[in-house]
Amino acid sequence: MDTQDKLFAPLRLPCGVVLKNRIAKSAMSDSLGDGSGHPTQTQINLYQRWAQGGLGLSIIGEVQGSPDFAEKPGNLVLNGKADLTLFRELAIKGGENGSHLWLQLGHGGALAYAPTSAPQGPSALDLPGLTCSEMPLDVVRNVPANFARTAQLAQDAGFGGVQIHAAHGFLLSQFLSPLFNKRRDEYGGPIENRMRLLIETIDAVRAAVGPEFPIAVKLNSSDQLEGGFAEDDAHKVVAALDTTSVDLIDISGGTYFPGAKSASDAAGGGPYFLEFAKRARAATTVPLMLTGGFKTFAQAQAALAEGIVDIVGLARALALEPSLPDLWRANKALTPVFPRFSEAPEGGITAWYTMRLTTIGTDTLAPDFGDLDPAITAYEARDKARTDIWLKHFGRPD
Ligand SMILES: Cc1cc2nc3c(=O)[nH]c(=O)nc-3n(C[C@H](O)[C@H](O)[C@H](O)COP(=O)(O)O)c2cc1C
Repeated sequence: MDTQDKLFAPLRLPCGVVLKNRIAKSAMSDSLGDGSGHPTQTQINLYQRWAQGGLGLSIIGEVQGSPDFAEKPGNLVLNGKADLTLFRELAIKGGENGSHLWLQLGHGGALAYAPTSAPQGPSALDLPGLTCSEMPLDVVRNVPANFARTAQLAQDAGFGGVQIHAAHGFLLSQFLSPLFNKRRDEYGGPIENRMRLLIETIDAVRAAVGPEFPIAVKLNSSDQLEGGFAEDDAHKVVAALDTTSVDLIDISGGTYFPGAKSASDAAGGGPYFLEFAKRARAATTVPLMLTGGFKTFAQAQAALAEGIVDIVGLARALALEPSLPDLWRANKALTPVFPRFSEAPEGGITAWYTMRLTTIGTDTLAPDFGDLDPAITAYEARDKARTDIWLKHFGRPD
């Protein structure tokens, strides 16, 4: 098999589900929910467009089980109160062309969007730009059941799988991090305790969806923060995940902690986290996905050819060109052109890419990339408008 074939070879997951190729659209919070936690037609168009472009797997970012700890007011909220009609349409259209559409199950925790939340993390924090209270133990103990309920609804609505979000500084990743997690109960202290909530969540989700439904975990290789979740601990988590029923470990890194580095805002060369993935490969037989910094066909091909990972995860490259898998298969667009933004403010690049997703969903992709500032302005204005809708719909959290 030559390496081109490898990228387009099917992958059988431990649960028995087969993905048609090795190219995944990594989770992106698209900010295209309607403000009441339901999908919009623009969002459905976006995922249909990606499915038509030849992806094996596509993951919707930050789908919340509760409106109380959302990452953004454009998140989807999937719980017993949700109307499943548009979720079902999203599942069907985003799953066209043999593509798999999964939901990433999120909980913002300490980083929940403050205008719609009273953020709670593993421990109380009062830092510039980040204030949260400590999550009470009975609430912590309910987290796995809440993730499980949303996973079951995802399955009922026709989605192909779920990804448990334990990366980038959101709730489950905060529990892993000694910087966020100073608890003295069974969820804090040594890494075996800090990973307890993640493992319990996987077990609860598996019990809810049965043995044949894919479950992935997105895990940081490191938070890239001094005193945070570091590589040695991350390898212990990989070893523990090896003994669970997960079907895929998606390796990432960085956080949205104020002032910290996030992978989606990074401008430099990639792919990131390759060395970590190599070591993880030796420690687990669970299929590995690597996300972050893949820009070219040659990079994707090399990561697979060297046997380091089983799936290549792309986020920004697929925001630039939603048909990249089909183009690569036809030997085209092997080195996509990325925009370069000098002096982007924190979060600015991520905001630009989020607005790019809207232009795909509305079929208004312009021939040039457009500037950063108008994109940031439009992004912020939309979040503000959606916050008003969210608060009217869900009410203000206590
Ligand atoms: C607009 C945007 C939104 C993102 N939202 C999420 C998200 O909801 N969940 C997640 O795990 N990662 C999210 N990410 C991070 C990406 O999945 C990925 O880890 C990161 O962008 C690095 O990959 P890339 O270099 O291929 O873009 C987002 C990235 C972008 C650009």
